[in-house]
Amino acid sequence: MNCDKKTVRDIDVSGKRVLLRCDLNVPLDKKTGDISDETRILASLPTINYLLEGGASVIACSHLGRPKGQWREDLSLRPISARLSEHLDRPVKFPGDIIGDEAVSMAAALKPGEVMLLENLRFHKEEEKNDPGFAKKLASMADIYVSDAFGTVHRAHASTEGVSHFLPAVGGLLLARELEALGGALNKPRRPFVTILGGSKVSDKLGVIKNLLEKADTILIGGGMAYTFLKAQGKEIGKSICEEEQMPYARQVLEEAAGKGVSLLLPVDTIVAPEFSADAEPTLVSCDAMPPDQMGLDIGPMTAEIFAGSIKAAQTVVWNGPMGVFEFPAFAAGTVAVAKAMAESSAFTIIGGGDSAAAVNQFGLASRISHISTGGGASLEFLEGIELPGVACLLDK
Ligand code: 3PG
Repeated sequence: MNCDKKTVRDIDVSGKRVLLRCDLNVPLDKKTGDISDETRILASLPTINYLLEGGASVIACSHLGRPKGQWREDLSLRPISARLSEHLDRPVKFPGDIIGDEAVSMAAALKPGEVMLLENLRFHKEEEKNDPGFAKKLASMADIYVSDAFGTVHRAHASTEGVSHFLPAVGGLLLARELEALGGALNKPRRPFVTILGGSKVSDKLGVIKNLLEKADTILIGGGMAYTFLKAQGKEIGKSICEEEQMPYARQVLEEAAGKGVSLLLPVDTIVAPEFSADAEPTLVSCDAMPPDQMGLDIGPMTAEIFAGSIKAAQTVVWNGPMGVFEFPAFAAGTVAVAKAMAESSAFTIIGGGDSAAAVNQFGLASRISHISTGGGASLEFLEGIELPGVACLLDK
């Protein structure tokens, strides 16, 4: 694993009880409560299987949603334990609590090769507060702690950081794979290294842009955040989303990029519409002639072609954030074009989690991307170069 942290491969797990932090925070259908995307469940299987086959017993745990210390039936992990059990082809015991008597006695009775899943950790407010008493109680059920919840390593919570003060702590296989892919791209990229940033807000990506200015050869900016940059260049952007307070920063980024020889490309054409709506009438315009009564909702075809050309010439590509409102078919073409260019590229291609991962899944291109991160916020913080508490707390090699 990048950053020289120990993983499950560096320790003997046979006969050990392992507290395994997974990120089983999967999206649920708003109406039916069904699991609508099981990517994170599937991504957790290799480490669970590795531990079980190695003769360990596994006490898996995760959060689901943001219940803020309240017990909520709609955020119970029970359906997820059933789905896990199907994939593991063995029972997953479910105590229905977290650190209560039932969980503790179930954990004590676990035999090698057996697995249980604790209830949603965030039903206890102590989890997010990184309460040492709660962490100690969790840790007391196990001999070893394994962190495989890449999507949550940017949180210093009891189950992601606190437990490491009470147990030997190592990384799981998913965590190792994520750190290797993202760390490799960021620290030892094959060049040209091209990054594509989108999404609606510049303010969400300040740290990422700053860090990438030091590392990337090319930064392509699309999505809603591009309009703040265009306005900072003095262009009319009509009713497009704009963070006025970020304009000085956008100007500074443009200057720094020029000074450092980083090629920073903004859209040259855009699809505008009178309002933010799926059936608003789309019109293609140049970014030098955006009508004052319209808003930009996607990059245009010329921009998509320029971006695709950069991606084609790259050896390493990292993409985070959609190019437009891809949930509306009329404004999805720019995001589709970037996703296709990524899929067709021979570069090492990485997609940060969240919306861009959802987009490649929606377009059926996921299998042609080298690495799709399971972490949205976590991969962004990684790209910012911030120390991740859930990684920093693991044992060094
Ligand atoms: C995620 O979905 O990004 C992770 O599971 C972390 O969830 P959180 O943002 O609620 O901490």
